[in-house]
Amino acid sequence: MSDPKPKLIETAAGDDFAETAARVFADSLRGIESPLVILPTGNTPLGMYRCLRTRYKDEPFWKNFRYLALDDYIGLPVGDERCFHSWVARELLDHVGVPAANRIVFGSVDDGAEGVKSCLAACGSADLAVLGLGENGHLGFNEPGSAFDSTVRAVDLAPGTVAANAAYWGGEDRVPRRAFTLGLRDIARSKRTILLVAGTRKAAILKATLEGPVSPEVPSTVLRTMNNVTIVADEGAMGR
Ligand code: GLP
Repeated sequence: MSDPKPKLIETAAGDDFAETAARVFADSLRGIESPLVILPTGNTPLGMYRCLRTRYKDEPFWKNFRYLALDDYIGLPVGDERCFHSWVARELLDHVGVPAANRIVFGSVDDGAEGVKSCLAACGSADLAVLGLGENGHLGFNEPGSAFDSTVRAVDLAPGTVAANAAYWGGEDRVPRRAFTLGLRDIARSKRTILLVAGTRKAAILKATLEGPVSPEVPSTVLRTMNNVTIVADEGAMGR
């Protein structure tokens, strides 16, 4: 059954947030034989990944699990540890036995989106998209102004995104300026979606996501046009 409005689950910060996110993730995948799953990077999902690789390690859905990359930087050498796909591998996939053949990722050059495009063409949609929320409302690297019907593509990062990611790179001048991202339409086609939002830093954009005008200027408002969306938000993100 489809549910037209995002379901909001509020948690305490820290373990409660991580455990709730992991439970919603596992509940979404049980019974799916070979799930195709979009996974995010960033600080927000770290606790959920820790919980999944320990408490949920033996779930049957890992057996034929297929990871579809959400976004990644362009121009890093293949296998660079700062690539988002290396990051998801370290935090989750290597621990739950997902083989390289089941990791559909972006390449490091400008035509590096071919694998992801052909996967989407063949599968139609992901079974589950797990997303973080940028402080400017971006999903993946769909920056403000991204059309709701946008598809996989290379993009320029917004200056605020470069600044927000500077800490991971040892300075703003070192952050790559170009990236691949799934489009908002690719994300919106997913059968289920989980948005993870934590911390007071995200309170204003979560409010805009839930209550502001639905518009490409706040890409995350696309979630309000989708079915089967669950938002897991901690008390900080809820402004409490
Ligand atoms: C990056 C990623 C997004 C992610 C966002 C939030 O910009 N491209 O996919 O959701 O950061 O990161 P964090 O969870 O660290 O706030």
